[in-house]
Amino acid sequence: MNNSEFAVRLTDVKKKYLMGKVEVEALKGVSLQIPIKKFNVIIGPSGSGKTTLLNLLGCIDIPSSGCVEVCGQDIARLSDKQASDFRAENIGFIFQNFNLIPVLSAYENVEYPLLLMKKPAKERRELTLKMLHDVGLSSHKHHRPNELSGGQRQRVAIARALVKGPKLVLADEPTANLDSKTGQSIIDLMYKMQAESHTTFIFSSHDKQVMEHAEKVFEIHDGLLMEERGK
Ligand SMILES: Nc1ncnc2c1ncn2[C@@H]1O[C@H](COP(=O)(O)OP(=O)(O)OP(=O)(O)O)[C@@H](O)[C@H]1O
Ligand SMILES: [Mg+2]
Repeated sequence: MNNSEFAVRLTDVKKKYLMGKVEVEALKGVSLQIPIKKFNVIIGPSGSGKTTLLNLLGCIDIPSSGCVEVCGQDIARLSDKQASDFRAENIGFIFQNFNLIPVLSAYENVEYPLLLMKKPAKERRELTLKMLHDVGLSSHKHHRPNELSGGQRQRVAIARALVKGPKLVLADEPTANLDSKTGQSIIDLMYKMQAESHTTFIFSSHDKQVMEHAEKVFEIHDGLLMEERGK
């Protein structure tokens, strides 16, 4: 594989947090390459460093040392403004607690990233309606988040993450706040959306059940990559 076939390349990445005077080393030298256009899963127990890793991939944070390249870009070289523009253009996020905007309807939440990107009204409307249809929420487009079930909220979040056609979709334990049946339907939906959009998905979980669909699994323990499975 040449470089352009990787969505993400980490080289000896360390991340330390300062807790008062105590240093916590959340990542202790991780090197890995995540292929494009696949359904990738990062697993590991609570506290192993999954959220820390996803925050680096999402350009929300920078490493203490080592190199993080996302879509060919060394993220440490970006200014704050450049990082937020890079994120808006290339990365879609799906969170554990949905993070929808409470005063906006499902439609408006999905449309929001397109407004930020200054897309014309007609294109915004077409893309938003298509995404709501694809996640099975055409009939709920006027509902606000508090008028939707947990599973429906996560469907809105998936539509919002994908509507701008990002190169990379990051999901940090997207099923943790859902019952197991709803969680399974969200995983099935994400897998279908990944296959149709040919986007790179990176999904974190400490639940081994979610690995069923994974094409590639990275297992981290205590800030270190322990195992890599799949092609
Ligand atoms: N902002 C922070 N300040 C200090 N320590 C932190 C901070 N964020 C995370 N940590 C520590 O870094 C380590 C990794 O945390 P992280 O949140 O990445 O784990 P995780 O794998 O996502 O866990 P979980 O499955 O519970 O979400 C933990 O020991 C945690 O206590
Ligand atoms: Mg976490």
